[in-house]
Amino acid sequence: MSSTDSITLTRPDDWHLHVRDGEPMRTVVPHTAAQFARAIIMPNLREPVTTTAQALAYRDRILAAVPAGTDFEPLMTLYLTDNLQPEEIRRAKAAGIVACKLYPAGATTNSDAGVTSLGKIYPVFEAMQREGLLLLVHGESTAPGVDVFDREAVFIDSQLIPLRRDFPALKIVFEHITTREAAHYVRDAGALTAATITAHHLLYNRNAIFTGGLRPHYYCLPVLKREVHRLALVEAATRGGARYFLGTDSAPHPAHLKEHASGCAGCYTAHAAMEMYAEAFDAAGALDRLEAFASFNGPDFYGLPRNTGRITLRRESWTPPAAFPFGDAELKPLRHGETLPWRKA
Ligand code: DOR
Ligand code: ZN
Repeated sequence: MSSTDSITLTRPDDWHLHVRDGEPMRTVVPHTAAQFARAIIMPNLREPVTTTAQALAYRDRILAAVPAGTDFEPLMTLYLTDNLQPEEIRRAKAAGIVACKLYPAGATTNSDAGVTSLGKIYPVFEAMQREGLLLLVHGESTAPGVDVFDREAVFIDSQLIPLRRDFPALKIVFEHITTREAAHYVRDAGALTAATITAHHLLYNRNAIFTGGLRPHYYCLPVLKREVHRLALVEAATRGGARYFLGTDSAPHPAHLKEHASGCAGCYTAHAAMEMYAEAFDAAGALDRLEAFASFNGPDFYGLPRNTGRITLRRESWTPPAAFPFGDAELKPLRHGETLPWRKA
Protein backbone atom coordinates (compact mmCIF):
# COMPACT_ATOMS: atom_id res chain seq x y z
CA MET A 1 0.00 0.00 0.00
CA SER A 2 1.55 3.33 -0.99
CA SER A 3 1.78 6.05 1.62
CA THR A 4 -1.12 7.98 0.08
CA ASP A 5 -3.41 4.98 0.49
CA SER A 6 -3.05 5.17 4.23
CA ILE A 7 -2.47 8.03 6.62
CA THR A 8 -1.69 7.86 10.32
CA LEU A 9 -2.26 10.94 12.45
CA THR A 10 -2.01 12.04 16.03
CA ARG A 11 -5.47 11.48 17.48
CA PRO A 12 -7.54 14.52 16.53
CA ASP A 13 -10.02 16.68 18.47
CA ASP A 14 -13.33 18.15 17.39
CA TRP A 15 -13.44 21.83 18.35
CA HIS A 16 -17.18 22.27 17.63
CA LEU A 17 -19.73 19.55 18.33
CA HIS A 18 -23.42 19.11 19.19
CA VAL A 19 -24.31 15.92 21.07
CA ARG A 20 -27.79 16.90 22.38
CA ASP A 21 -28.97 15.12 25.54
CA GLY A 22 -30.73 11.97 26.76
CA GLU A 23 -31.11 8.80 24.65
CA PRO A 24 -29.78 10.30 21.39
CA MET A 25 -26.37 10.66 23.06
CA ARG A 26 -26.08 6.85 23.11
CA THR A 27 -25.69 7.01 19.32
CA VAL A 28 -23.77 10.20 18.72
CA VAL A 29 -21.27 10.30 21.61
CA PRO A 30 -19.75 6.89 20.68
CA HIS A 31 -19.32 8.03 17.08
CA THR A 32 -17.29 11.04 18.16
CA ALA A 33 -15.35 9.17 20.85
CA ALA A 34 -14.29 6.57 18.28
CA GLN A 35 -12.38 9.25 16.36
CA PHE A 36 -11.63 12.17 18.62
CA ALA A 37 -9.91 12.43 21.99
CA ARG A 38 -11.73 15.62 22.99
CA ALA A 39 -14.57 17.76 21.73
CA ILE A 40 -15.87 21.22 22.47
CA ILE A 41 -19.48 20.62 23.44
CA MET A 42 -21.96 23.21 22.24
CA PRO A 43 -24.34 24.43 24.95
CA ASN A 44 -27.47 24.99 22.81
CA LEU A 45 -29.68 22.39 24.47
CA ARG A 46 -33.39 23.08 24.49
CA GLU A 47 -32.77 24.51 27.94
CA PRO A 48 -29.41 26.17 27.23
CA VAL A 49 -26.38 25.44 29.40
CA THR A 50 -25.97 28.81 31.09
CA THR A 51 -24.43 27.93 34.45
CA THR A 52 -21.33 26.11 35.63
CA ALA A 53 -23.51 23.67 37.55
CA GLN A 54 -25.52 22.82 34.43
CA ALA A 55 -22.35 22.37 32.40
CA LEU A 56 -20.84 19.98 34.94
CA ALA A 57 -24.04 17.93 35.13
CA TYR A 58 -24.19 17.82 31.31
CA ARG A 59 -20.57 16.69 31.23
CA ASP A 60 -21.42 13.76 33.51
CA ARG A 61 -24.32 12.73 31.26
CA ILE A 62 -22.02 12.83 28.22
CA LEU A 63 -19.37 10.75 29.99
CA ALA A 64 -22.05 8.19 30.85
CA ALA A 65 -22.64 7.74 27.10
CA VAL A 66 -18.94 7.08 26.32
CA PRO A 67 -18.35 3.37 25.67
CA ALA A 68 -16.35 1.56 28.36
CA GLY A 69 -12.68 1.43 27.50
CA THR A 70 -12.72 4.55 25.30
CA ASP A 71 -11.11 7.66 26.64
CA PHE A 72 -12.87 10.81 25.59
CA GLU A 73 -12.92 14.21 27.22
CA PRO A 74 -15.84 16.59 26.68
CA LEU A 75 -14.67 20.21 26.93
CA MET A 76 -17.54 22.25 28.26
CA THR A 77 -18.87 25.67 27.28
CA LEU A 78 -21.45 28.11 28.59
CA TYR A 79 -24.20 29.69 26.49
CA LEU A 80 -24.10 33.48 26.69
CA THR A 81 -27.38 35.27 27.34
CA ASP A 82 -28.17 38.90 28.06
CA ASN A 83 -28.40 37.94 31.74
CA LEU A 84 -25.27 35.93 32.38
CA GLN A 85 -23.33 37.54 35.22
CA PRO A 86 -19.57 38.14 35.24
CA GLU A 87 -19.27 36.15 38.52
CA GLU A 88 -20.35 33.05 36.61
CA ILE A 89 -17.22 33.36 34.46
CA ARG A 90 -14.98 33.02 37.50
CA ARG A 91 -16.89 29.94 38.67
CA ALA A 92 -16.72 28.50 35.17
CA LYS A 93 -12.97 28.96 34.93
CA ALA A 94 -12.44 27.37 38.34
CA ALA A 95 -14.54 24.36 37.25
CA GLY A 96 -12.52 23.76 34.08
CA ILE A 97 -14.97 25.21 31.58
CA VAL A 98 -12.94 26.43 28.65
CA ALA A 99 -15.15 28.77 26.65
CA CYS A 100 -18.45 30.59 26.19
CA LYS A 101 -20.55 30.43 23.04
CA LEU A 102 -22.10 33.52 21.56
CA TYR A 103 -25.29 32.92 19.62
CA PRO A 104 -26.85 36.10 18.30
CA ALA A 105 -30.50 35.71 19.38
CA GLY A 106 -32.48 33.99 16.64
CA ALA A 107 -29.47 33.08 14.48
CA THR A 108 -29.91 29.30 14.57
CA THR A 109 -31.20 26.18 16.39
CA ASN A 110 -32.04 26.90 20.05
CA SER A 111 -30.67 30.43 19.91
CA ASP A 112 -33.77 32.25 21.17
CA ALA A 113 -32.09 32.84 24.52
CA GLY A 114 -28.97 34.20 22.81
CA VAL A 115 -27.53 37.68 23.05
CA THR A 116 -29.66 40.49 21.65
CA SER A 117 -26.89 43.10 21.58
CA LEU A 118 -23.19 42.62 22.25
CA GLY A 119 -23.00 45.87 24.22
CA LYS A 120 -25.23 44.34 26.89
CA ILE A 121 -22.64 41.79 27.90
CA TYR A 122 -19.41 43.76 27.76
CA PRO A 123 -18.80 43.07 31.50
CA VAL A 124 -18.96 39.35 30.71
CA PHE A 125 -16.47 39.68 27.85
CA GLU A 126 -14.20 41.60 30.23
CA ALA A 127 -14.41 38.78 32.76
CA MET A 128 -13.67 36.20 30.05
CA GLN A 129 -10.68 38.18 28.86
CA ARG A 130 -9.39 38.40 32.45
CA GLU A 131 -10.00 34.72 33.27
CA GLY A 132 -8.72 33.38 29.96
CA LEU A 133 -11.95 31.80 28.70
CA LEU A 134 -12.27 31.67 24.93
CA LEU A 135 -15.16 33.30 23.10
CA LEU A 136 -16.70 31.03 20.45
CA VAL A 137 -18.80 32.98 17.98
CA HIS A 138 -21.67 32.00 15.74
CA GLY A 139 -20.95 34.80 13.30
CA GLU A 140 -24.15 35.61 11.47
CA SER A 141 -26.02 38.88 11.46
CA THR A 142 -29.65 38.56 12.47
CA ALA A 143 -30.58 42.03 11.24
CA PRO A 144 -33.87 41.76 9.38
CA GLY A 145 -33.49 42.10 5.66
CA VAL A 146 -29.93 40.80 5.44
CA ASP A 147 -29.78 38.11 2.77
CA VAL A 148 -29.19 34.66 4.29
CA PHE A 149 -26.09 34.21 2.12
CA ASP A 150 -24.63 37.54 3.32
CA ARG A 151 -25.18 37.13 7.05
CA GLU A 152 -21.64 36.04 7.84
CA ALA A 153 -19.96 38.84 5.91
CA VAL A 154 -22.29 41.44 7.46
CA PHE A 155 -21.56 40.08 10.95
CA ILE A 156 -17.83 40.59 10.46
CA ASP A 157 -18.18 44.27 9.67
CA SER A 158 -21.01 45.12 12.03
CA GLN A 159 -20.10 43.03 15.11
CA LEU A 160 -16.83 41.17 14.99
CA ILE A 161 -14.48 43.98 14.03
CA PRO A 162 -15.72 46.23 16.88
CA LEU A 163 -15.66 43.33 19.37
CA ARG A 164 -12.12 42.35 18.38
CA ARG A 165 -11.02 45.97 18.81
CA ASP A 166 -12.67 46.37 22.22
CA PHE A 167 -11.24 43.13 23.70
CA PRO A 168 -7.75 42.86 22.27
CA ALA A 169 -6.63 40.14 24.71
CA LEU A 170 -9.69 37.88 24.33
CA LYS A 171 -9.16 34.65 22.37
CA ILE A 172 -11.93 34.45 19.77
CA VAL A 173 -12.85 31.46 17.62
CA PHE A 174 -14.99 32.35 14.62
CA GLU A 175 -16.95 29.11 14.40
CA HIS A 176 -17.76 27.14 11.25
CA ILE A 177 -16.67 29.82 8.79
CA THR A 178 -18.29 29.56 5.38
CA THR A 179 -17.05 32.48 3.28
CA ARG A 180 -13.93 33.92 1.71
CA GLU A 181 -14.60 37.06 3.73
CA ALA A 182 -14.40 35.09 6.99
CA ALA A 183 -11.29 33.17 5.94
CA HIS A 184 -9.54 36.41 5.03
CA TYR A 185 -10.77 38.21 8.13
CA VAL A 186 -9.24 35.51 10.34
CA ARG A 187 -6.01 35.51 8.35
CA ASP A 188 -5.62 39.24 8.98
CA ALA A 189 -7.00 39.46 12.53
CA GLY A 190 -3.90 38.56 14.51
CA ALA A 191 -2.72 35.80 16.80
CA LEU A 192 -5.76 35.68 19.09
CA THR A 193 -8.38 35.05 16.39
CA ALA A 194 -8.92 31.59 14.93
CA ALA A 195 -11.60 29.70 13.03
CA THR A 196 -13.09 26.24 12.86
CA ILE A 197 -14.08 24.75 9.51
CA THR A 198 -16.50 21.86 8.98
CA ALA A 199 -15.97 18.93 6.63
CA HIS A 200 -19.19 19.66 4.79
CA HIS A 201 -18.20 23.25 4.02
CA LEU A 202 -14.90 21.93 2.61
CA LEU A 203 -16.66 19.34 0.44
CA TYR A 204 -19.80 21.11 -0.79
CA ASN A 205 -21.08 24.34 -2.18
CA ARG A 206 -24.71 25.45 -2.11
CA ASN A 207 -25.61 23.41 -5.18
CA ALA A 208 -25.60 20.36 -2.88
CA ILE A 209 -28.83 21.58 -1.29
CA PHE A 210 -30.63 21.60 -4.63
CA THR A 211 -29.15 18.71 -6.64
CA GLY A 212 -32.01 16.70 -8.16
CA GLY A 213 -34.51 18.18 -5.70
CA LEU A 214 -34.43 19.81 -2.29
CA ARG A 215 -31.96 17.91 -0.11
CA PRO A 216 -32.55 18.80 3.53
CA HIS A 217 -29.64 16.79 4.90
CA TYR A 218 -27.32 19.36 3.31
CA TYR A 219 -29.03 22.26 5.05
CA CYS A 220 -27.13 23.79 7.95
CA LEU A 221 -26.38 27.23 9.33
CA PRO A 222 -24.42 29.10 8.24
CA VAL A 223 -25.79 27.73 4.98
CA LEU A 224 -23.45 26.33 2.29
CA LYS A 225 -22.16 29.08 0.00
CA ARG A 226 -20.90 29.50 -3.58
CA GLU A 227 -17.93 27.55 -4.93
CA VAL A 228 -15.61 30.56 -4.63
CA HIS A 229 -16.15 30.45 -0.87
CA ARG A 230 -15.64 26.70 -0.63
CA LEU A 231 -12.32 27.12 -2.44
CA ALA A 232 -11.26 29.85 0.01
CA LEU A 233 -12.07 27.53 2.93
CA VAL A 234 -10.06 24.70 1.38
CA GLU A 235 -7.15 27.06 0.91
CA ALA A 236 -7.40 28.23 4.54
CA ALA A 237 -7.69 24.72 5.98
CA THR A 238 -4.90 23.22 3.92
CA ARG A 239 -2.49 26.12 3.51
CA GLY A 240 -3.69 28.92 5.76
CA GLY A 241 -1.59 28.16 8.82
CA ALA A 242 -2.15 27.45 12.46
CA ARG A 243 -5.24 29.54 13.19
CA TYR A 244 -7.65 27.31 11.26
CA PHE A 245 -8.66 24.01 12.78
CA LEU A 246 -11.15 21.18 12.76
CA GLY A 247 -14.67 21.66 14.11
CA THR A 248 -17.27 19.35 12.62
CA ASP A 249 -20.40 21.21 13.76
CA SER A 250 -21.94 17.74 13.60
CA ALA A 251 -25.53 18.63 14.52
CA PRO A 252 -27.92 15.67 14.74
CA HIS A 253 -31.66 16.11 14.28
CA PRO A 254 -34.35 13.44 13.97
CA ALA A 255 -34.83 12.58 10.30
CA HIS A 256 -38.52 13.51 10.36
CA LEU A 257 -37.62 17.06 11.46
CA LYS A 258 -35.02 17.43 8.71
CA GLU A 259 -37.37 16.05 6.05
CA HIS A 260 -40.05 18.51 7.00
CA ALA A 261 -41.87 21.54 5.58
CA SER A 262 -39.70 23.69 7.88
CA GLY A 263 -36.66 21.48 8.22
CA CYS A 264 -34.07 21.90 10.97
CA ALA A 265 -30.58 23.21 10.21
CA GLY A 266 -27.68 20.86 10.87
CA CYS A 267 -25.64 18.16 9.13
CA TYR A 268 -24.77 15.00 11.03
CA THR A 269 -21.16 14.05 10.25
CA ALA A 270 -19.76 12.51 13.44
CA HIS A 271 -20.18 8.97 12.08
CA ALA A 272 -17.51 9.63 9.43
CA ALA A 273 -15.95 12.97 10.26
CA MET A 274 -12.27 12.20 9.74
CA GLU A 275 -13.13 10.24 6.60
CA MET A 276 -14.78 13.33 5.12
CA TYR A 277 -11.93 15.65 6.12
CA ALA A 278 -9.47 13.19 4.56
CA GLU A 279 -11.53 13.24 1.36
CA ALA A 280 -11.44 17.03 1.26
CA PHE A 281 -7.71 17.30 1.98
CA ASP A 282 -6.94 14.52 -0.50
CA ALA A 283 -8.91 16.31 -3.21
CA ALA A 284 -6.77 19.39 -2.54
CA GLY A 285 -3.54 17.35 -2.72
CA ALA A 286 -2.91 18.22 0.91
CA LEU A 287 -3.21 15.02 2.96
CA ASP A 288 0.12 15.91 4.54
CA ARG A 289 -1.52 19.02 6.06
CA LEU A 290 -4.42 17.17 7.69
CA GLU A 291 -2.62 16.37 10.94
CA ALA A 292 -1.86 20.01 11.74
CA PHE A 293 -5.45 21.02 11.02
CA ALA A 294 -7.05 18.11 12.90
CA SER A 295 -4.64 17.45 15.73
CA PHE A 296 -2.24 20.34 16.40
CA ASN A 297 -3.73 23.75 15.62
CA GLY A 298 -6.73 23.40 17.92
CA PRO A 299 -4.94 22.43 21.13
CA ASP A 300 -2.19 24.95 20.40
CA PHE A 301 -4.70 27.79 20.12
CA TYR A 302 -6.68 26.68 23.18
CA GLY A 303 -3.46 26.28 25.18
CA LEU A 304 -4.08 22.58 25.81
CA PRO A 305 -1.68 19.68 25.31
CA ARG A 306 -1.66 17.83 22.00
CA ASN A 307 -2.93 14.25 22.12
CA THR A 308 -0.55 11.31 22.14
CA GLY A 309 -2.63 8.48 20.58
CA ARG A 310 -2.85 7.86 16.83
CA ILE A 311 -5.53 7.00 14.28
CA THR A 312 -5.17 5.55 10.80
CA LEU A 313 -7.34 6.21 7.76
CA ARG A 314 -7.18 4.01 4.66
CA ARG A 315 -8.33 4.57 1.11
CA GLU A 316 -11.23 2.11 1.03
CA SER A 317 -14.75 2.64 -0.34
CA TRP A 318 -17.60 2.05 2.05
CA THR A 319 -21.16 3.16 2.52
CA PRO A 320 -22.42 4.60 5.81
CA PRO A 321 -25.67 3.11 7.15
CA ALA A 322 -28.95 4.56 5.93
CA ALA A 323 -29.86 5.61 9.47
CA PHE A 324 -28.95 5.26 13.12
CA PRO A 325 -31.31 5.03 16.10
CA PHE A 326 -31.88 8.43 17.72
CA GLY A 327 -34.00 7.99 20.83
CA ASP A 328 -37.44 7.12 19.47
CA ALA A 329 -36.56 8.55 16.06
CA GLU A 330 -34.00 7.95 13.31
CA LEU A 331 -30.87 9.89 12.47
CA LYS A 332 -29.83 10.06 8.82
CA PRO A 333 -26.13 10.84 8.53
CA LEU A 334 -24.64 12.96 5.79
CA ARG A 335 -23.71 10.71 2.84
CA HIS A 336 -26.09 7.96 3.92
CA GLY A 337 -26.36 5.49 1.07
CA GLU A 338 -23.42 7.12 -0.75
CA THR A 339 -19.86 5.88 -0.89
CA LEU A 340 -17.01 7.42 1.03
CA PRO A 341 -13.46 6.93 -0.29
CA TRP A 342 -11.64 6.97 3.07
CA ARG A 343 -12.25 4.71 6.04
CA LYS A 344 -10.95 4.72 9.58
CA ALA A 345 -8.95 1.57 10.30
O1 DOR B 1 -26.77 23.98 11.28
C1 DOR B 1 -26.65 24.24 12.47
N1 DOR B 1 -27.11 23.40 13.42
N2 DOR B 1 -26.09 25.39 12.82
C2 DOR B 1 -26.07 25.79 14.10
O2 DOR B 1 -25.56 26.84 14.35
C3 DOR B 1 -26.71 24.99 15.16
C4 DOR B 1 -26.79 23.60 14.78
C5 DOR B 1 -27.74 22.81 15.67
O3 DOR B 1 -27.65 22.92 16.89
O4 DOR B 1 -28.54 22.05 15.12
ZN1 ZN C 1 -22.78 24.40 15.87
